This record gives sequence, C-alpha cells and structure tokens, in this order.
Amino acid sequence: MKIYLVGGAIRDKLLGLKVRERDFVVVGATVDEMLRLGFKAVGKDFPVFLHPETYEEYALARTERKVAAGYHGFVFHAEPSVTLEQDLARRDLTINAMAQDEDGNLIDPFNGKNDLDRKCLKHVSAAFREDPVRILRLARFAAFLPEFTIDESTFILMQEMVKAGEVDALVPERVWQETKRALECAKPNRFFEVLKECGALSILFPSIEKRFNLAIKLLNNAVKKSKDPRVRFAALLNNLSISEIKGFAKKLNIPREYLDLALLSSTYCGFIFDENSRSAEEILCFFEKIDAFRRPKRLNDLLSVCVVFNKLPKEKIQNYKRLFEVVSNINGKDVSRTKSGVEIKNELHRLRRIAIEAKLF
Ligand code: CTP
Repeated sequence: MKIYLVGGAIRDKLLGLKVRERDFVVVGATVDEMLRLGFKAVGKDFPVFLHPETYEEYALARTERKVAAGYHGFVFHAEPSVTLEQDLARRDLTINAMAQDEDGNLIDPFNGKNDLDRKCLKHVSAAFREDPVRILRLARFAAFLPEFTIDESTFILMQEMVKAGEVDALVPERVWQETKRALECAKPNRFFEVLKECGALSILFPSIEKRFNLAIKLLNNAVKKSKDPRVRFAALLNNLSISEIKGFAKKLNIPREYLDLALLSSTYCGFIFDENSRSAEEILCFFEKIDAFRRPKRLNDLLSVCVVFNKLPKEKIQNYKRLFEVVSNINGKDVSRTKSGVEIKNELHRLRRIAIEAKLF
C-alpha cells in the first residue's frame, strides 16, 4: 500500500499558500485492509475513509467513467490495481492533478507544476467534460488565482459543455457553494466574467447577465470595502428588483442570511442615501421596519452595503449608527410599568422620536 498527498494541498503548497485541507490517495489497498487499519468508511459512492486519528480523507485510487447525466451518472472503479497516474488522470485541472509521496517527491504526470509556473488553468483530459461542476470550479479558481489565464483548449471545452446543455444539470447547492466560495476570493468578478465568456452566466444567473457591467462595478466596489461575502453578494444584486432577487434566491436555494441582506439593501439603501431630507419619525420608522431593535446587526450590515456605493461620506453613515445607539438605549425601563402593551409601545416610540429629534436639530 502506498499513500500520496494529492490535489489542492499540493497546489496551494507550491503556490506558497496556506493549506486548508489535506486529501490522500491510497494505491494498492482494498476496503477491508483500510477498515482493518482502523480507517472509518465515509464515502457513499466510492471508497473514501477518515484516518482514525487525524480524520483526514483517504480515498482509494480510482478511475471513473460517466455513463449517465447528473451527479450519480458515474461508474467508479477502485481496486488495488488502479495506479496513481490513472487516479490523477480523472481530475479536473493539471494544477490539481499532482501528488506527493511519503518521502516528499512530487509526482506530476500532467505538468501541473509547469502550469502553475506559467499561471495557466488547463484541463487534464477530455474527461473534464464529464462533470459540469468543473465549469464552476474553474471560474472559482480564476477568482482565487486572478493572475492565472485559462488555456484556450480548456476554454473551448467549457463553451462546448455549455452548448451541449451540461450546465442545466447542475444542482442549486453546488452552484451556490461555488458562488459563495468565489465571493470570498480575491477577485470574485472573475468568477462571473468567466461564466459569462463561456456562456454559462445567462443560464445560471440571467438577472446578473442583464445588467452585467453595473453588477460587476458594484461587486468590485464591495470587494474593496468588505471581506464579508454577504455584503459582496448584496452589492452584486443591488440593481436587481425585489422579485428578481427573490427569484434568484429561490432558484439557487440561497441561505437566509444572504437573501436577507440583499433584500434589505435593495429596499433601504436609497432611503439611507437620502438622509438629509428625513424626519425623526421617518428615521425611527426605518429602524423599526428593519427590526433593528431586536436585530441590531441588520443595521450594521445594511450600512456596510451602503458604504460600497460611495454616495455618502463616511460621517453620514456613522450618523445612522450614532442615532441608533441613542434610541436603542431607550427601552422598557424608561416607560411606566402601569401602562398596557400598546401604550408602552407608543410611549417608547414617542421617547425615541424625541431623542432622534434632539440629535437631528
Ligand atoms: N476534483 C475534480 N473534479 C471535481 C472536484 C474535485 O477533479 N469536480 C479533484 C481535484 O483534483 C481536486 C480534488 O479532487 O484538487 C479535491 O477536491 P476539493 O477538495 O473539492 O478541492 P481542492 O482542489 O482540494 O481545492 P479547494 O478546496 O480549494 O476547492
């Protein structure tokens, strides 16, 4: 049995980046042998195990072949006779198809190191087209390694895959997973640009494609001001209508916290930009409508998105924070206990409005 470190760990190590996760390939072993050594089987579709102590992933070397559409359309072949090279050959990009043996030697049958050096994202073989997730992964790697270019042959392959309808088979969870990861990268705009260039954007995100330049401009502004993927996402979607945002979220099954901030920003950024003309009553109603008294983080998140638009000086945004601080300190203890529920609510509203007025004028 031989064990090799493979995939992203080698790529990131050679790039001098922090390795987040290590995956291993085991050549020459059977399932029974792995179990006897104390590994825990976790793979549903193919033999993957967790190391008994480190819990890192160890997969038996395998080949795979697509026999039907969709995620489960693969036939896997994992036997002790499968070689490391065969396992590496089924992988997506040359930079992800390198391995390292236990003595630290690099095994690189597809010249991944050379592609790393020349900053090129290139597919390993025609098997790339068997998995449409790879289109998303490649776009995400373009966002993660922005100085890398996509090899022309790989780009043509991606275009062909899109034309053949492969992108239609992607499940929402994977689309969102890669999109979220792209939003966390150095240049998320590259993710959307690559998808646009290969024709996948109009299928996956038609509402972004419609006003692409503006969406990317807002996204780029957000990237300069915030690392928070929710803020970046809200900026990207800010020029969409509420129904477009909801449609987008439904299609991709987007987590609540992302949808919430996108809707909040699309609805209220305009209000905040108009700050000078707002009365104390309007400002207080705004705090109430966004539920800021119960969920103060919402106001902060919303203001983080507003900063992206460069429409207001920083002090104006700070003003909102100060006003909210003042009113949020006024609560039930400031109202007589003898009052009824509605009276307490009205009295709180009155006291808070007076406090804002005092700060505004
Ligand atoms: N892989 C692949 N095709 C996919 C997914 C993964 O060929 N659709 C291969 C690649 O060799 C990849 C490895 O499986 O390097 C491990 O996949 P994963 O852990 O998902 O990604 P990493 O490349 O390790 O990097 P990252 O975690 O940054 O995505």
